[in-house]
Amino acid sequence: NEPQPYANEPFTDFSRQDEREAMEAAIAQAKTKLGRTYPLKIGAQMIETEPKIASVNPGNVNEVIGFVSKANQELAEQAMQAALAAFESWKRVSARERAEYLFQAAKLMRERKHEFSALMLLEAGKNYAEADADTAEAIDFLEYYGREAIRLSAVNETQPLVKIPGEENRLSYIPLGVGVIIPPWNFPLAICVGMTAAAIVSGNAVLLKPSSATPVIAYKFVKLMQEVGLPAGVINYVPGSGAEIGDYLTSHPQTRFVSFTGSKEVGLRINRLAAETAPGQIWIKRVIAEMGGKDGIVVDETADLDAAASAIVASAFGYQGQKCSAGSRAIIVEAVYDELAGRIVELTKQLQVGLPEHNFAAGPVIDSASYARILDYIDLGREEGELLAGGSKAPGNGYYIQPTVFGGVDVKARLMQEEIFGPVLALAKAKDWREAIEMYNDTEFGLTGSFFSTDEDRIAEALETMHCGNLYVNRKCTGALVGAQPFGGFNMSGTDSKAGGHDYLLLFTQAKVTSRKL
Ligand code: NAD
Ligand code: ALA
Repeated sequence: NEPQPYANEPFTDFSRQDEREAMEAAIAQAKTKLGRTYPLKIGAQMIETEPKIASVNPGNVNEVIGFVSKANQELAEQAMQAALAAFESWKRVSARERAEYLFQAAKLMRERKHEFSALMLLEAGKNYAEADADTAEAIDFLEYYGREAIRLSAVNETQPLVKIPGEENRLSYIPLGVGVIIPPWNFPLAICVGMTAAAIVSGNAVLLKPSSATPVIAYKFVKLMQEVGLPAGVINYVPGSGAEIGDYLTSHPQTRFVSFTGSKEVGLRINRLAAETAPGQIWIKRVIAEMGGKDGIVVDETADLDAAASAIVASAFGYQGQKCSAGSRAIIVEAVYDELAGRIVELTKQLQVGLPEHNFAAGPVIDSASYARILDYIDLGREEGELLAGGSKAPGNGYYIQPTVFGGVDVKARLMQEEIFGPVLALAKAKDWREAIEMYNDTEFGLTGSFFSTDEDRIAEALETMHCGNLYVNRKCTGALVGAQPFGGFNMSGTDSKAGGHDYLLLFTQAKVTSRKL
């Protein structure tokens, strides 16, 4: 059966009482499962270890979401051997059959959408809409990459070659081998699912090392793939320390590729370690590294200021600013700076902070280390700018911080240059729109950006000159949709892999050309 044409999974409308109640029921159900233990999955074996990783609810730190087994190097090695064995048969399974596992998983995830979102909400501190969008994106990745694998397998249509009389030439995409999948915690389902699904549907076997902040939702995905009958060893689930098993697996001679999404610091380390050749290694490892951002919104004096203010606040404070796409800078021309800053502050002060399960607009940040780091940046902000809103901890039994705005920040200030990854927005003033674009480009990152204007000539120039992987006009700079806005950044934001786009699966394959004399 041909799959239906791809369409994005719709978001749940939580203004409806029945949907809110369904989510509340799913949260209550998820809470009955708190504190359970979770094993590793290596081949067909489920292995419990001591010690374990305790995954804590950042919104209520008395709640342990689960105790997750932790792989050491010996177990990581077992997982590598299990993946190598599984690869030998998995690589021969047709793309269509591989895609079918993804479609089945998407179907079940869609049926259990709130169940996935509720667990994520508790483990990562997302409110209803953010968790729901994350689950919808995970479903999208499964549906999209399944179709992409089928498309790529249609060799003669995907890569029509020049006809040579007396020869039959074909180009086909074959898998790479065993890869290590290292997702971040901030889209703990969507990115974890997307990175893993792309690799396996292309015919590779993987070691999935989830973030230690969100290993339980990753486990739930691994169980889902087991439920749909994915052969053992194609996905091996090995939570563990980055320094211990992360480095070990990146440096392993039989690792063929590493697919990483996370911070610049860890991404660069992986890139460096992977570039060294281990004894016995017979390939150059492929590294896909999607990293941080210092994204921003530029506003000129012709812009719709209400729309700009809403977009700036949504981009800065959605999921507490913990998105790689978060608009943590707004660069505003001086003619409208005071007026727009006033509107931004007004909207920011309306954001109420509280428990994700009660669906507050703003929730906790992920853990104690982030909490301390963000509060340090807020202290720095008092030196580098003028505090306009927020500026301190917020009450609650978790890592709550007020949405914070600093005005009059210099383009070279650390607040304008460094990824804070929390609810802190810096405003800067430019003399005109061209200077504002220059200020926007004055960063080592290049992930997302947005330009607000009603002047078509300026929009045309901004589209050309703002240097980032995902550039928007007159809208927020977060919320890229699979298939519609393939996602990935320039410069220190990463390898621009364009997740959710037609080029993505090529990163998990190698092209083989066969020429046969007729
Ligand atoms: P992180 O770099 O701290 O961790 C990412 C992953 O790397 C985790 O699974 C972690 O356990 C693992 N890790 C840590 N050290 C390792 C090592 N030495 N070897 C192998 N793995 C190791 O990032 P994070 O805090 O989880 O996520 C936030 C960061 O991710 C932000 O910088 C954000 O901008 C970025 N991010 C980027 C994108 C994108 O598409 N560009 C998307 C989401 C998040
Ligand atoms: N894809 C996510 C966004 O665009 C990171 O916000």
